[in-house]
Amino acid sequence: MKNLAILCSGFGSNLQAIINSVKKGKIKANIALVLSDKVDSYALVRAKKAGLLFVFADPNSFLDRESYDQYLVKKLKKIKIDYVVLAGFMRIVSPYFIKKFKNKIVNIHPSLLPAFKGTQGIVDALNYGVKVTGVSVHFVNEQLDGGPIILQESIKIQADDTAETLAARIHKLEHKLYPQALKLLIDNKLTVKSGKVLVEREK
Ligand code: GRF
Repeated sequence: MKNLAILCSGFGSNLQAIINSVKKGKIKANIALVLSDKVDSYALVRAKKAGLLFVFADPNSFLDRESYDQYLVKKLKKIKIDYVVLAGFMRIVSPYFIKKFKNKIVNIHPSLLPAFKGTQGIVDALNYGVKVTGVSVHFVNEQLDGGPIILQESIKIQADDTAETLAARIHKLEHKLYPQALKLLIDNKLTVKSGKVLVEREK
């Protein structure tokens, strides 16, 4: 069974969706660790409630990003993590970290990449006036929100949408799409070739 580490910073609703899918046996993997860079992240409460191993890793105890990431890599390798799942982890992971887990780190982003990268994907799409936005799950590479895309799904923006109403629909879609993408990953249905992800669909 493959070991997942889920890295979070906040509310952890995607973490919860993944926990639920693992519990239902849809994702056949073991959540070996939930790690947060924020002491008060609700994701840690969710991990505790689910009986998972969890840890708060404080970036302020380290000199710089690279030394923090060295600590993370050491911690993850020690418990034999196969895949690193970023679920609202509000830090940019260093090239060092990415090299150590090449094509083994995945992230979810609340827009149709490559549009609206960065931390404000939902509001930026709304403010721009696009009529369609969505959710992307992608492998993490050195480019911010720029790695090979695994799955995407779109959502129509309505004329009366606010940041809150749009965010609610985006999050609902995230909670469906992230477990789907992780299932494909764990079931070995993904191949990265020339920066693109080939998805082998179930027959
Ligand atoms: C999600 O919108 C995700 O796309 C983004 O951060 C948010 C995390 O939400 N990367 P949660 O902590 O999973 O509730």
